[in-house]
Amino acid sequence: MAVFASGSYDPDSITKYSSITEQIPRRSIQDPETYQLIKDSKPVVITDTNLVTSASKWDLEYLNKNLGDGLFYVYTSNDNRFKYFDNKRAEKCKSFVTPSERHHVTFLQFLQMLKRCARTKEKVYLQQTLNDSVGTNIVTDFLQFNWDWVNKCQAAYGWGSLSSNLLLIGLEGNITPVHYDEQENFFAQISGHKRCLLFSPDQFDCLYPHPVAHPCDRQSQVNIANPDYKKFPRFRNAHATEAIVGPGDVLYIPMYWWHQIESLSSRIPPVTISVNFWYRGTPLPDVIQYPLSPQQRVSVMRNVEKMLAAALGDAEKVGELLRTMVEGRYTQ
Ligand code: FUM
Ligand code: FE
Repeated sequence: MAVFASGSYDPDSITKYSSITEQIPRRSIQDPETYQLIKDSKPVVITDTNLVTSASKWDLEYLNKNLGDGLFYVYTSNDNRFKYFDNKRAEKCKSFVTPSERHHVTFLQFLQMLKRCARTKEKVYLQQTLNDSVGTNIVTDFLQFNWDWVNKCQAAYGWGSLSSNLLLIGLEGNITPVHYDEQENFFAQISGHKRCLLFSPDQFDCLYPHPVAHPCDRQSQVNIANPDYKKFPRFRNAHATEAIVGPGDVLYIPMYWWHQIESLSSRIPPVTISVNFWYRGTPLPDVIQYPLSPQQRVSVMRNVEKMLAAALGDAEKVGELLRTMVEGRYTQ
């Protein structure tokens, strides 16, 4: 057991992956390179934004007092992994086994679930969009976020509107497995440490996403801790870039960049707390430049899959049609 400072994380809790080749740069808000990286859609950890400094007092006691009586989405999982799935699609798809259970509970019930987890192997993860059901102190803290800085970034990079702020409260060992989001994200760490592994969007072929119509759309099928190389041989070519974020850090996760987020062990605090700032992407330019960027290629592939599913009236038939079109014609 490693010795580590209170407020830090246990280095022994870091899983070793062969696919990590680089560290994500850590830069100041003052450093022009920060803005060049964001402009180029490259990840960067920004160390001094003060984006969520007003939330640094958020611990479980403060949140319990101030979050209000609203209901929160809380997921439970028996294997640490919280793979996202679309609930509506999951309900329609009889053969789909949900990778985690979704609950809609009060914050007090969430605290009880956390206590229960301490006795069992079960893991629990609160993932709730911040809304107007929260108490006035949280509203005050929220209004004191560094909106000036994020609004300037949003305008500078031509991003669309802020779509949501997701509050995440997790336990050590929780993993959000590899996936990409179709939005720009400033991922702000409030409490505890998270390890973030990012793969660039040009590694689509190495990460084998589920089909677009699947409940786990945008999620990789590869479990990177235990990859099945027979099924997913090109994962051998995948390479990630990594950062460990702690309180006050903001990680820029560019749209379509794959990411896996892991909550690291610590003695204090007992949970990790983060808030996502999700922005809609830049609207398409009038004139498309070629070659397409890796992000645009992913977008095209998604649209082709969606159009074929709609034209065939059955998403299950897309693979067969694509095989017929490609095999022996574009494969030699
Ligand atoms: O677990 C997480 O903090 C995940 C965040 C994300 O995928 O954006
Ligand atoms: Fe994400």
